[in-house]
Amino acid sequence: MIKAIIYNSNTGHTFRYADMLSKKLNVPCYSLKEANKFLNKNDEVIYLSWICAGRITKVNKVKNKYNIKGYGVVGAYPADTEYIKTVEKANNLNVPLFYLRGGIDYNKLKGIKRKIVQMVGKVLEKANSDNQELINIFKNGADFVNEKNLDEIVSYIRKEL
Ligand SMILES: Cc1cc2nc3c(=O)[nH]c(=O)nc-3n(C[C@H](O)[C@H](O)[C@H](O)COP(=O)(O)O)c2cc1C
Repeated sequence: MIKAIIYNSNTGHTFRYADMLSKKLNVPCYSLKEANKFLNKNDEVIYLSWICAGRITKVNKVKNKYNIKGYGVVGAYPADTEYIKTVEKANNLNVPLFYLRGGIDYNKLKGIKRKIVQMVGKVLEKANSDNQELINIFKNGADFVNEKNLDEIVSYIRKEL
C-alpha cells in the first residue's frame, strides 16, 4: 500500500501536483526532508520530481531508501511520447513513469537555473526553431499544471497498487 507521495520541487509546479495527488488518493505528501521524519526505510511511495537536463532530480536520495512504485516527472516540454521514452531511458527506471507537464516560473527561478532556462530560450530562437510555442515558453514562462494531467498516474495507482 502506498504510504506517501514524496516530492522534490524547485519552483512549485511539482509541489502542486503532489498536493493534488495527495488529496485525490488520500495519502500524505512529504518533501524529501519531511520524508526522513515520517517514513521508514522500504515504505511504498510515489516519487514526484522535476526534470533537469533530462534527469529526474534527487532521485538517488529516494531510490535505495524507499520502495518506489511509480514516478511522476515534471518538465516544461510537451508531453510527447518520444520525449517521455527518452526520459525513461536516461533515468534507468524499473517502475512506471508518468509525465506531468509543469512550466517555467520566472518569478521563482533564481541564480544559475534561471540563466540556463533563459539561455535555452535564446538558443531555440537563434536556431530558428519552428517551435514558436516552446520559444515563448522559455522566454516568457508558462504554467501547464492541470489536475487532468494526473488521470493516468491516478488510475495506475488505483488499479495496480
Ligand atoms: C536548469 C533547468 C533544466 C531543465 N531541464 C529540463 C528538461 O531537460 N526537460 C524538461 O522538460 N524541463 C526541464 N526544465 C524545466 C523544469 O523541469 C520545469 O520548470 C518544472 O516545471 C520545474 O518544476 P518545479 O516548479 O517543481 O521546480 C528545466 C529547468 C531548469 C531550471
